[in-house]
Amino acid sequence: MKSEPTLLVIDDDPEVLATVGHFAEGFGFKVVIRTNARAALAELAFLKPDAVLVALRMPDIGGLEVLRAVRDLAPACQVILITKHPSVDTAIDAIKLGALDYINKPFDRERLGGLLIGIRKSIERRERLLRVDVDVAKTFAFQGLIGRGPAMQELFDSVRRFAPHARTVLVTGETGTGKELVARALHTLGARPDRRFVAVNCSAVVEGLFESELFGHQRGAFTGATDTKMGLFEHADNGTLFLDEIGELPLTIQAKLLRAVDLGEIQRVGSVEGRHVDVAVIAATNRDLRAAAADGRFRSDLYYRLSVIEIHIVPLRERREDIPYLSAVFLRESSDRLHRPTTGMTAAAERMLLHASWPGNVRELRNVIERACLLSDGKMLSERDVQAAMPGAAGTPAPPVLDVARPRAGSPLDQDIVTDAQRAQVEHALQEARGNKAGAARLLGISRRSMYRRLEHLGMSCARSGASKRAIRGTHPN
Ligand SMILES: Nc1ncnc2c1ncn2[C@@H]1O[C@H](COP(=O)(O)OP(=O)(O)OP(=O)(O)O)[C@@H](O)[C@H]1O
Ligand SMILES: [Mg+2]
Repeated sequence: MKSEPTLLVIDDDPEVLATVGHFAEGFGFKVVIRTNARAALAELAFLKPDAVLVALRMPDIGGLEVLRAVRDLAPACQVILITKHPSVDTAIDAIKLGALDYINKPFDRERLGGLLIGIRKSIERRERLLRVDVDVAKTFAFQGLIGRGPAMQELFDSVRRFAPHARTVLVTGETGTGKELVARALHTLGARPDRRFVAVNCSAVVEGLFESELFGHQRGAFTGATDTKMGLFEHADNGTLFLDEIGELPLTIQAKLLRAVDLGEIQRVGSVEGRHVDVAVIAATNRDLRAAAADGRFRSDLYYRLSVIEIHIVPLRERREDIPYLSAVFLRESSDRLHRPTTGMTAAAERMLLHASWPGNVRELRNVIERACLLSDGKMLSERDVQAAMPGAAGTPAPPVLDVARPRAGSPLDQDIVTDAQRAQVEHALQEARGNKAGAARLLGISRRSMYRRLEHLGMSCARSGASKRAIRGTHPN
């Protein structure tokens, strides 16, 4: 864990601030003190406290409102309330709303010390849990594929079993399920891992050029064939040729492919001479090749030849047990690569990922986590970050939940407090950045797009400060 957790103390009583501040430093906290709750909330994104100690009653806003706002703006942060006239009801309310605990004034030093130790321990526990998550997830990796559940464990077994001997394999599965990773794993664990792995995407090859691409051509074989060219089969000789989206292969080429797979024999276009190649062929498709073969859209002899060994990858929605493991690894990768502070996600965010339908499978999950990581303000990915990163959320006119505090059963005041705090936060950032929205977004640690959405939600798209008004005019073509 980082060496010094930050404790934010909010109270209008200077005596409290002085004693608690000094005392907490003795327990290894970096202490930040504020007398104005509203201003303190506005600074949350900058202060990034690990814990907040806040007075229940203050002139501007109460501790319970601060608690609600902190839960929304910094869900991983622990909150303890300072009460003067303790009532059981308030204490229960506070705990229900997610406070860690409460403490009475004047302070009992022993109890305060106990609470501070409790906070440190829970921060340590949280960080330990997160770390273990990623490390544990990585122990379920196989050749770059993460899979915890029985479906993937069986798939890993099949790859281990078939790779050393298989000469042709058909890998099937929906888009984004990891077919190319499986193909690469088969090659790496195969008999000749040091030889070439040549990948060709059949849907990207111009129809008339297939034969020359795969088998090569002689100089002058057709208009434009100015040189003799080696085809991909020869290029992959002694190694592996990966034919992605094999379902897109024209029928005319399929007979020649069968000959190459069956007999290891190819012919360059324009040449009468047959050549021998020794290539392991792995084909992949997201289409139902059996059905295509049954109604004549794909040669059935080629289909049967290719599918002697078939490895099917189950769609992500049918192996949801893998999602938390994949998410943990993708989150770590994204935050490292994008230099973001995000180290974990809230339980609500994890739940949302777990229950989504994932038509784009693992690729889509990876993309959503990367986008959420860019949108996130702090250390923990929130449900809202994930929601905003889901396909369909961005660009649609009014996404359901987006940088907007979730409406909940509590009083309308909660909403106002959160919105006010967000507004103050944004104003503060705009001031710091002299009205430059991109700069303000950077200060807040959010994307520019997220910044615009936030401004719109807060009714600030026409900018509130003079500085930002100028910035808008400056960027306008007129
Ligand atoms: N089990 C997995 N563990 C880790 N990453 C995975 C896993 N499955 C897929 N991925 C990642 O998801 C992305 C898509 O994988 P891949 O390209 O292999 O899918 P595909 O099935 O070939 O998709 P398409 O049909 O669209 O070509 C890649 O970034 C890959 O690294
Ligand atoms: Mg692919």
